[in-house]
Amino acid sequence: MKKLNIALIGYGFMGRTHSNAFRQSSKFFDLQYEPVLKCVCARDAAKAQAFADNWGYEGIETDWRKLIERKDIDVIDIAAPNNVHADIAIAAAKAGKMILCEKPLSMDGPQGKKMVAAVEKAGVPNSVWYNYRRVPAVTLAKKLIDEGRLGRIFHYRAKFLQDWTINPELPQGGAGLWRLDVKVAGSGVTGDLLAHCIDTAIWLNGGVEKVNAMTETFVKERKHSLSGKVEKVGIDDACAFLARFKNGSLATFESTRYARGHKALYTLEINGEHASIAWDLHDLHRLQWFDHKDEGQVRGWRNLHISDSDHPYMKHWWVPGLQIGYEHTFTHQFADFVKSLEKNDPCSPSFREALETQYICDAVLKSGKTGRWEKVTNVK
Ligand SMILES: NC(=O)c1ccc[n+]([C@@H]2O[C@H](COP(=O)([O-])OP(=O)(O)OC[C@H]3O[C@@H](n4cnc5c(N)ncnc54)[C@H](O)[C@@H]3O)[C@@H](O)[C@H]2O)c1
Repeated sequence: MKKLNIALIGYGFMGRTHSNAFRQSSKFFDLQYEPVLKCVCARDAAKAQAFADNWGYEGIETDWRKLIERKDIDVIDIAAPNNVHADIAIAAAKAGKMILCEKPLSMDGPQGKKMVAAVEKAGVPNSVWYNYRRVPAVTLAKKLIDEGRLGRIFHYRAKFLQDWTINPELPQGGAGLWRLDVKVAGSGVTGDLLAHCIDTAIWLNGGVEKVNAMTETFVKERKHSLSGKVEKVGIDDACAFLARFKNGSLATFESTRYARGHKALYTLEINGEHASIAWDLHDLHRLQWFDHKDEGQVRGWRNLHISDSDHPYMKHWWVPGLQIGYEHTFTHQFADFVKSLEKNDPCSPSFREALETQYICDAVLKSGKTGRWEKVTNVK
């Protein structure tokens, strides 16, 4: 097996999911590259070292610029907050590194465009961790749609609901709360949560032509964890938008961090001429399927348990009937990335594909301000 030397930037939530994926991938998938956990990079040396010890990284760095200069690193994996994605990715591309980047690709479309230009100029493999594509039930939905089983698609409906920022005393900014600071996050639920819904949607149902959004910031001021001062909140706490897809279908998307009782409720439903599909992250191994071709007296929503060996990815795991979970989506993505290297193919979603999501987010946020329908910039 060839070695693939990986450096991870950021040891938070995603740092853990990615490290787990690097550890698991070659144990469960037949890969020609063996990932080597070479280095973890974060600003706090003691915490980075503790993370390295726990996951088996060979060493640490505290400055990502030094990391990128190292000759012994093949892949730079960006699992740090959104405001540092572009600088790291562009520098890593110039240094000829392969790049895995967390979502959203960038703070906005124009910044994302520079990242796409950098990786394409350098010709380096690149991919963005929109991991929900690799939930086996969602991958199966893609297969069923591509086989034409739904026929013409009329409706796409997606929601991503949480409730963790309702308390007005919650500060903004700093470790763990950077998502509330617009200078670090770029936007609120639009870039954080709807970006996932949009990525899945454009993968399943094609491009979006235009959007009409309403956004709201329910808590207008919060204390900033770093400055200690009460500062204006610049993120969208909630966003709902209508969209017209290029294939003529109509869509509604909604996301909020103010839906009391919901922690991470990502749901989607697609209604076609012949069939409908529904999926729910809380029951991620199930796909709801309605087929109008079924005989009338037994026609109804079928609840498919996506755990058999002919379901996407499942033959790599346990025996039929046993389900897998959230963390496996990252393992699938990394295994697909390694396979793409073996075949010299792009690994979807590439930076270019993820830029499309960024442009849709930009149009949504713009429409939230103007109150008008806004056209989505085409990825050239
Ligand atoms: N794919 C998904 O489902 C998913 C889920 C959560 C987060 N994310 C994305 O992953 C990224 C990280 O989110 P998270 O939840 O892991 O955040 P987190 O707050 O848990 O961890 C962020 C890490 O980045 C480090 N960091 C911050 N600035 C840095 C810098 N300048 N140099 C080096 N390290 C730095 C922090 O020390 C911390 O270790 C974000 O872009 C986020 O949008 C994706």
